[in-house]
Amino acid sequence: MHPSHPALAEAGSYNPTLQGDPRPTRLLGQAFAGFPKLSASENSTASVLALVASDMAEVDRVIAERLDSGVPLVGEVARYIISAGGKRLRPVLLLLTCGALGYTGAQRHNLAAVVEFIHTATLLHDDVVDESTLRRGRPTANESFGNPASVLVGDFLYSRAFQMMVDADSMRVMQVLADATNVIAEGEVLQLMNMHDASLDEEGYLRVIRSKTAKLFEASARLGAILAKQSADTEEACATYGQALGTAFQVIDDVLDYDGNTSEMGKNLGDDLREGKATLPLILAMQRGTPEQAATVRSAIETGSVERLQEIVGIVRDTGALQATRTAAAAEAQRAIDAAMRLPANAHREAMVTLASQLLERRA
Ligand code: IPE
Ligand code: IPE
Ligand code: MG
Ligand code: MG
Repeated sequence: MHPSHPALAEAGSYNPTLQGDPRPTRLLGQAFAGFPKLSASENSTASVLALVASDMAEVDRVIAERLDSGVPLVGEVARYIISAGGKRLRPVLLLLTCGALGYTGAQRHNLAAVVEFIHTATLLHDDVVDESTLRRGRPTANESFGNPASVLVGDFLYSRAFQMMVDADSMRVMQVLADATNVIAEGEVLQLMNMHDASLDEEGYLRVIRSKTAKLFEASARLGAILAKQSADTEEACATYGQALGTAFQVIDDVLDYDGNTSEMGKNLGDDLREGKATLPLILAMQRGTPEQAATVRSAIETGSVERLQEIVGIVRDTGALQATRTAAAAEAQRAIDAAMRLPANAHREAMVTLASQLLERRA
């Protein structure tokens, strides 16, 4: 690996799994031969959610309780985005790993709320940075309340999350969450540096998504193992599961920006292109397309112009780049499943497997 900027090396140093992964680029680029284990599970996403439904109700209670602030605008903005829903995937992940490993203490609800707060803070900040106007089917908080309120309430949620994690009374828990938060911020800055750079390759792309998205998934799953006081081996299996799941999740998100629809996603399509983001569908389209197609994509990334969005959608489809991107996500989902299979066999582990396979089909 030849990081082009010191920030790249830094991002890696917080992420031993990424550094230790001998073939991140190949994983994304390789032809994928199928995933037999995916069909082993007959469960559905609904059954995954049913397994943690009562825990999630408790997490929602903790979230509502901890949004409390003497400053009315804090609660107003925070409730605005949190009450719009969201998939609550990171808390689900934490609860599933706790369940798989037999931890039933109260800290699981507290820390599940913590990871959702951190996620929500990143969304508030991200929508300002990306100048996004739609999130969870509603105008974004920046659209409704303005950039300053979004940034400041994001800061409130981050710092509230840090107050709450102290309750776990565990140095290790704080270390994992402090590192994850720091790496997410690095990932977003790294992405900012990469804006309008059409020469970004798969490795550069992977570094960004491992940091900005996969790290919090990794931390959520790792925390389940830490709460359950598991061996280093089991903790690493959980961390690998979370990292691979989060990577697959973001890759699919990047597919949906060209192959989804606004009403299902609750976000505007084409935002990535408008931001000049070289995501995997575009990187692969430039590799696979004719010189003319590659030039069209390159120019769209460099200018951030969405005028030719329909043409770009046609190119990512016709070159097979969309399918190849889905294949890359499937490879990461399989890596997640392989890691989950290292945990004890039970309904929660089965749900972790189901989650990884269902994620490939997601539309929202
Ligand atoms: C959005 O995350 C940001 C990405 C990592 C793509 P989610 O898709 O988990 O957002 P919500 O919480 O369900 O709205
Ligand atoms: C989401 O990233 C924010 C983080 C993961 C920190 P994106 O900008 O790619 O996702 P959306 O499309 O706004 O949800
Ligand atoms: Mg965004
Ligand atoms: Mg963004």
